Amino acid sequence: ETGDHASFMRKEMLEQPEAAQRVLRGRLDERFGTAHLGGLNLDARETRAIKRVKILGCGSAYYVGQMGAALIEELARIPADAEAASEFRYRNPIIEPDTLYVAVSQSGETIDTLLAVQEVRRKGGRVVGLVNVVGSAIARECDGGIYLHAGPEVAVASTKALTTMFLGFALLALQLGRVRDLSIADGRRLIAGLERLPAQIQEILDREDEIAELAGRLADAESLFFVGRVRGFPVAREGAQKFKEISYRHAEAYQTSELKHGPLALISPDVPTVAIVPADELADRNVGALHEIAARRGPLVVVTHDGVDLGEVAAARIVVPRNERELDPVLMTIPLQLLAYHAALRLGHDIDKPRNLAKSVTVE
Ligand code: BG6
Repeated sequence: ETGDHASFMRKEMLEQPEAAQRVLRGRLDERFGTAHLGGLNLDARETRAIKRVKILGCGSAYYVGQMGAALIEELARIPADAEAASEFRYRNPIIEPDTLYVAVSQSGETIDTLLAVQEVRRKGGRVVGLVNVVGSAIARECDGGIYLHAGPEVAVASTKALTTMFLGFALLALQLGRVRDLSIADGRRLIAGLERLPAQIQEILDREDEIAELAGRLADAESLFFVGRVRGFPVAREGAQKFKEISYRHAEAYQTSELKHGPLALISPDVPTVAIVPADELADRNVGALHEIAARRGPLVVVTHDGVDLGEVAAARIVVPRNERELDPVLMTIPLQLLAYHAALRLGHDIDKPRNLAKSVTVE
């Protein structure tokens, strides 16, 4: 059923350019520089009244939720954050009427996310869903939402669904931003960036052999770090998650800025680091941290852009195409999928059904 592909995960990774096109199709309005998301069931007045956004999801959906929160804060300037849905209801959360709750789920059946949605609605809050499976429990329970149109995803390690979740958040951020202070010109700038993404994702996928070679170098390490900051930190978290899920290696995500406050003690020639270093306002500081790692002879793989000067640091580089900086996370996530996949392949693990994990956890 995987066709010519070795596994569903590989098939689903390669489907990402198409999936990206599908989630955007018919939803971009170039004339007004905004997105149309009729299924949210929110009119302009209700949209303007939103004071805060709280995103709820589990596992990879939670990490993409963190990327989504950053997009909403940057584009719409509304305070936003993501929380693990599995924790949310256990702390008797305060539900505010002017907060928009967003549930994110590929399957739409994850029990922790479903119960979080029910807790919000029971207390009178408004929840919209970013869900892939049409008619699923979470989709039915929400007040409205955005279907992701990623197509069926079989591999436990989520890839194309995550890409469409990120784009779903970009659309939501655009719509929230354009009823506030995001200008028409900035809206159009983002739309043009979104339209470039499918081809740029393809460019990264086309470099699979180069990335597979680097994965081979990481696969032997018992333990590794994934580091990034601000926009790059959820990318590092997702990269570490994917790596540990299918390669069974200990992979830990850290804010690059926090390395010196603890984990540097563990850096050695046996502990590689995968660093996310986009060409943004933090690039110089990130490169400074890489010097600290290199000084302890920690092997480095750097996911970066053309034009970032790594100076004297000896590192393997994976250069991804540049887009609007707000959209960097989705492009930087793609090579991390390929790293995890090729490490697991080399180690001979079951790619699609990693031990102890289920595609969706429907009982508590
Ligand atoms: C986990 C899966 O248990 O559920 C993860 O192993 C997934 O891959 C998470 O990200 C959330 O699933 P869903 O269907 O709610 O997105």
